[in-house]
Amino acid sequence: MNDARSYVPPFQIGEPLQGDCVGVVVESRSPEWQPGDRVGSLLGWREHYVAHASALRRIQPGPAPLSAHLGVLGMPGHTAYVGLLDVAALKDGETVFVSSAAGAVGSLVGQLAKAHGCRVIGSAGSEEKVRWLLDEAGFDAAFNYKQQSPRDGLKEGAAEGIDVYFDNVGGDHLTAAIRAMRPYGRIALCGMISVYNEGAPSPGPDNLLMQSLIAKRVNMRGFIVFDHMARHGDFQEEVGRLLAEGRVKDLETVADGIERAPEAFLDLLRGDKIGKMLVRLGPDPA
Ligand SMILES: NC(=O)c1ccc[n+]([C@@H]2O[C@H](COP(=O)([O-])OP(=O)(O)OC[C@H]3O[C@@H](n4cnc5c(N)ncnc54)[C@H](OP(=O)(O)O)[C@@H]3O)[C@@H](O)[C@H]2O)c1
Repeated sequence: MNDARSYVPPFQIGEPLQGDCVGVVVESRSPEWQPGDRVGSLLGWREHYVAHASALRRIQPGPAPLSAHLGVLGMPGHTAYVGLLDVAALKDGETVFVSSAAGAVGSLVGQLAKAHGCRVIGSAGSEEKVRWLLDEAGFDAAFNYKQQSPRDGLKEGAAEGIDVYFDNVGGDHLTAAIRAMRPYGRIALCGMISVYNEGAPSPGPDNLLMQSLIAKRVNMRGFIVFDHMARHGDFQEEVGRLLAEGRVKDLETVADGIERAPEAFLDLLRGDKIGKMLVRLGPDPA
């Protein structure tokens, strides 16, 4: 939202909130769209709007609720899919660590890695989230980073080291993951939420030499999901199937009404929610 240079233009005061939205067609003058059709758009958060037919994205009918197309079947799911399978080049049977593991992206990273026969360790910020990771999402190990440092959590949960780290938070999680990397490991840099609101530049990991990324031949790579649209069809096919088979669970927290958007945004940053944070703008159509 600040005016720093980034991969999306800064938020403009007075403009509608930006973000992916889903809904249904109420009325149409286009032969392409019928009332009841499910649509996605990036036209701002609005209870209703009039749009040109070509500005809308079709969401195919299916068993998943419409809201899943903002989470596990939407942009966060796509981010998890390409970050894990393409950027981190996951191989079946490897050991994977993911931070913010009970979040929108992280919860799918871990569940996908499990579906690929991997051993999975996750970190999250509450006991409730750790329980969900272990009891519902099938993680092999999980720790609460507010109770145990990422370094100790990894020593306990991944004594033999890790092959892949999917980074959503940066900071001491990244430092601890570098320490635990095995030779030829890969780090996918997806996000660094622990430093987004820092006023000054935060120090980087201080162990690039000591826990040598060079000698261990580790690959660390940042990525942005929008560069991976060519994989959208593969993502929809694989995650849609895993969801239908019950091997992937969708998890969301819903705040009702546009008035609650600021609170929902702060809850997201604070971790006072589980899974994808959504704001419901109008009556639920699905
Ligand atoms: N590269 C891309 O294309 C791309 C695309 C989408 C998202 N992202 C990034 O991916 C990350 C995950 O996004 P998301 O939408 O799935 O968000 P999310 O994980 O659903 O929500 C953010 C969570 O981060 C955790 N967190 C906040 N402060 C933290 C801290 N200091 N240390 C550790 N964890 C902290 C909180 O959960 P806890 O309770 O666990 O602390 C919070 O709920 C974000 O960094 C986001 O910016 C990148």
